Amino acid sequence: MRIKGLTKVYGLFGDPVEHSLSPIMHNTAFQALGLDCVYLPFLVKVKDIGSAVQAVRALHLAGVNLTIPLKEHVLPYLDEVEKEAEHIGAVNTIVNRDGRLCGYNTDAPGFLASLKAAGFDPSGKNAVILGAGGAARAVSFALAKVGAARINIYNRSVEKAEKLAADLNAAYRLPTAAGDISSDLAAALKGAELLVNATPVGMYPDHRSAPLLSRKQLHQGLLVCDLIYNPLQTRLLDEAEAAGCRVLNGVGMLVWQGALAFQLWTGKKAPAALMEEAVLKALKGEDEDG
Ligand SMILES: NC(=O)c1ccc[n+]([C@@H]2O[C@H](COP(=O)([O-])OP(=O)(O)OC[C@H]3O[C@@H](n4cnc5c(N)ncnc54)[C@H](OP(=O)(O)O)[C@@H]3O)[C@@H](O)[C@H]2O)c1
Repeated sequence: MRIKGLTKVYGLFGDPVEHSLSPIMHNTAFQALGLDCVYLPFLVKVKDIGSAVQAVRALHLAGVNLTIPLKEHVLPYLDEVEKEAEHIGAVNTIVNRDGRLCGYNTDAPGFLASLKAAGFDPSGKNAVILGAGGAARAVSFALAKVGAARINIYNRSVEKAEKLAADLNAAYRLPTAAGDISSDLAAALKGAELLVNATPVGMYPDHRSAPLLSRKQLHQGLLVCDLIYNPLQTRLLDEAEAAGCRVLNGVGMLVWQGALAFQLWTGKKAPAALMEEAVLKALKGEDEDG
């Protein structure tokens, strides 16, 4: 890659950013399409989000992704926020349109694209979501948008699950329920076709800790989706496979949210297969280290 005077600079803001796969994924895509663009990680603390957004304007960065913990903090600093991102309350992609900063959430459609690629249509289906943070909000609003029949949310802090259930109900008039993640979820899962883990439980380096559910609580009719992608096969997915469920890891969502951000920035179709290949290669390298 040769950096020149006209090279467009994109970036990732977050804390931490050092293990992110987004630079590998986006630089692979830029190179594959022969675009004079580069993508860099920037460590940004929550307290500095306002000045970091101002730096996007001052330095003429072409676009930025946001990751933990900034997605929910960035909204007040933008010139415009797409309606869906506003509903979700989180922005993971900024497009700089001649100094006007527009915020989008590509996690939500990225999750739907990963379900589609796995051959699962969520419309008319009952879903159970574990977690009520940024990812759970993106996933549940995405499911509501495409006509899920019911969404039940279970979280460690029950009031956050209740808030998400109420927000979903207000936006989509969808039957929802909220509860404590440590309760026995077998009954809630009985009528469900989709289970999504939107908590970090099972993520590297704590990948050996007990999963939130055991095979006894799961049934064959479920697609069990873990948003975690490191490791590729979490202990929850092991349990799900043992219970006869179909499983899906978080790689698809990661790649499709990136592909959709790429498309917003460049106006070009993203080379999603190449992006996925780059991510898997990096993850397998990390697995060897870990
Ligand atoms: N594949 C992808 O592209 C993709 C995209 C986004 C996120 N993710 C993954 O999704 C997960 C959540 O991310 P996020 O952005 O939503 O994080 P977040 O906003 O910090 O929310 C984390 C959620 O997990 C719950 N939680 C945390 N530790 C827990 C524990 N030990 N036991 C039970 N619940 C626990 C939290 O409960 P409290 O409310 O009680 O704190 C909260 O609901 C992460 O693993 C992240 O890597 C994947």
